[in-house]
Amino acid sequence: MFPVDRFQDIQTPFYYYDVDLLKKTINIIKQESQRYENFVVHYAVKANANPKILRIVCKSGLGADCVSGGEIQACLDAGFSPNKIVYAGVGKSDWEINLALTAGIFCFNVESVAELEVINTLAQARNVTANVCFRINPDINAHTHANITTGLAENKFGIAMSEMEDAIAKANTMSNINFIGLHFHIGSQILNMNDYEQLCYRINDLQDTLESRGIKIQELNVGGGLGVDYESPNENPLPDFKAYFATYNRNLKLCKGQRVHFELGRAVVAQMGTLISRTLYIKQGMYKQFAILDAGMTDLIRPALYQARHKIENICNNAPEEVYDVVGPICESSDVFGKEIHINKLHRGDLVAIRSAGAYGEVMASQYNCRKLPIGYTSEELQKCE
Ligand SMILES: Cc1ncc(COP(=O)(O)O)c(C=O)c1O
Repeated sequence: MFPVDRFQDIQTPFYYYDVDLLKKTINIIKQESQRYENFVVHYAVKANANPKILRIVCKSGLGADCVSGGEIQACLDAGFSPNKIVYAGVGKSDWEINLALTAGIFCFNVESVAELEVINTLAQARNVTANVCFRINPDINAHTHANITTGLAENKFGIAMSEMEDAIAKANTMSNINFIGLHFHIGSQILNMNDYEQLCYRINDLQDTLESRGIKIQELNVGGGLGVDYESPNENPLPDFKAYFATYNRNLKLCKGQRVHFELGRAVVAQMGTLISRTLYIKQGMYKQFAILDAGMTDLIRPALYQARHKIENICNNAPEEVYDVVGPICESSDVFGKEIHINKLHRGDLVAIRSAGAYGEVMASQYNCRKLPIGYTSEELQKCE
C-alpha cells in the first residue's frame, strides 16, 4: 500500500499524503452534502495548510475556514476565491483584519463585541462593509478530549448566549458591519452524532428567540468536528459523512433560503496522511523494550498534547510481533507515540508508518531541539520522480 522502495531514498521523518484518498474523501463530502441544496462546506485550513494540499482542496471547489491572517494568505496563494473564505479566532490582530478586509473575504466569525468594534473602525477606514457572523458559545459538552472541546461555557471561544441579542443590536447600529448570521463550533474528533443533535436543538432555540424579536438569520455556520477512526484506518478510511450531514438536515429547523455552513478539517485530511519514520535503536529498558524512532513530538505532537493514539506499523517486514514503547528522540518524557504497542519485530533502519496523521500533524510541527521541520510529499509527486 505504501511505495516503500521509493521511501528508502527520502530523508526521514517525512509526511506522505495519499492524494487518491484525499480526492475520494472530498468527492464523498460533496456527494453527501449536496443532497441538501443549502449546505456549504469549507475546509478548516488549520488541520493541514501544506500548499500542495490546499491547492487540491481549492480545485475541488470547497470553501476555506481560516483562523489567522497567515491562513488567509495561504488560501489566497493557493487560489481560493476570497468570497469562499470565512475567518474565526478569538484574537484577530489589526493587520489580520485589514488583510481580510482588503481581500474581501465572505465573512468574519466574530468572537467578542470588542472585536466587532475594531472591525467596524478598520472597515470604515477602508470604506468597505464587513459581513459578520457572531460565534456563539452554545455551552455543549461534546464527547471528546478535554483539550479539544470548544463549546463549553468555560472555554475562551465565542460570545455567551446571554450576550447574543445585545451584540446583534449593536452590530445593526454600526455603519460598516453587515450582520448575517451565527457561528458555532463545539469541538473536534466528535464521533457521537448525539452531540451534533444537541447543537441543532440549541440553535433552534436561539433562532426561535431571535425570530420572536424580528431578527432574521441568513447564514448558520455549525463549525466542524467530525472525527475519524484512528484505530482502524484501513477498515474505515472514510468518516461517516452521510450520517453527519443527515443529522444536521434532520434536526436543524431552517427558514427559507437559509444556508448552513460546515467547517470540516480533520475528517477531510487525517486519513490521507502518514508520518514515515526510521527506527534508530531498539533498547531494552529495565521493564520495557523501547523502539526509538527518528520522528518525535516535534513532528507529530498529538500523542503528547492530547494523549492521542495513532496506529503504528512496521512497513519493512512481517516478522512476528513484539511489544514496544514507541518513542522519539526529543529530550522530553512526553515524547512517546504509544505504549505497549504490538508491532512486527523492528530492526535498526526499518521504516515505521504512523497512520492517520494528515490532520494536526505537519501543521503543528516545531523546531524544538533545533530540529528540521518534516517535509510533506504527495503520492503524485513521488510517482513523478520514479
Ligand atoms: C472554528 C473552528 N472551525 C473548524 C474547526 C475544525 O475542526 P475539525 O478539524 O475537528 O473538523 C476548528 C478546529 O478546532 C475550529 O476551531
